[in-house]
Amino acid sequence: MSPLAISATDRVFVLTGAGVSAESGLPTFRASDGLWEGHRIEDVCTPEALARNPALVWDFYSKRRLAAQRAEPNAAHAALADLERRLGDRFLLCTQNVDDLHERAGSLRLIHMHGELKKSRCEEECGRPPVEDGGVYGSLDEVPRCACGAMLRPHIVFFGEMPLEMGLIQEEIRRATLMLVVGTSGSVYPAANFVRWAGLAGARTVYLGPERPSNASAFSQIVEGRAGEVLPELLSAG
Ligand code: OAD
Repeated sequence: MSPLAISATDRVFVLTGAGVSAESGLPTFRASDGLWEGHRIEDVCTPEALARNPALVWDFYSKRRLAAQRAEPNAAHAALADLERRLGDRFLLCTQNVDDLHERAGSLRLIHMHGELKKSRCEEECGRPPVEDGGVYGSLDEVPRCACGAMLRPHIVFFGEMPLEMGLIQEEIRRATLMLVVGTSGSVYPAANFVRWAGLAGARTVYLGPERPSNASAFSQIVEGRAGEVLPELLSAG
């Protein structure tokens, strides 16, 4: 495996998915027959689910918070933080993951386009920003309230909701000369389209993961392997 050629003028946009945290022990979403820790995604990850059964949604995200808090960043998270230290503002990391393993590995130029497990926000969208909240709640009564009095909800982008920071993401993809995508099945939009936007803007596009993603044909290069094993070498200075 030879390292990726990254020149002094390259601008690198990295997109990660659940696969980058797999070697930290956090399960990917589509690993188990469309069930997510025993739940159908539409029962725990939609605005309708929150309205219908907030206790189930909070229980699910409380368990995911606990799992993320117990996990440690792996060599893939560390390799991406190292690359950022080399490239500075010519690097941007966009993750679909809601865990905080990238930042715990040292990443700073980081966008959580699907939200963050360790934050909550007002369910009524009163305008207050998300608050730090890593709470693991045993019942709905324990969930703190927003300052406006409404219920708090996990700061997670549910299916049917708009991902965060899309303006900045589109701008950075337009400027990127190299897009590296790691550990995502390429089945959730708009993230699955980023490779096409980058290709149209003339960037090289590289995918790393143990199997081909749904959008494999859009990449200029596919590297097969596990992120924690391959990424340190792929991103080494050469
Ligand atoms: P998926 O579960 O759909 O895909 C995980 C990908 O990681 C698969 O393509 C695996 O081949 C790959 N993978 C597994 N182990 C790996 C390893 N060790 N190294 C590298 N890759 C590995 O997860 P995502 O594509 O991230 O949305 O899912 C996208 C979105 O769908 C998530 O952000 C979430 C989900 O529902 C929201 O929460 C809004």
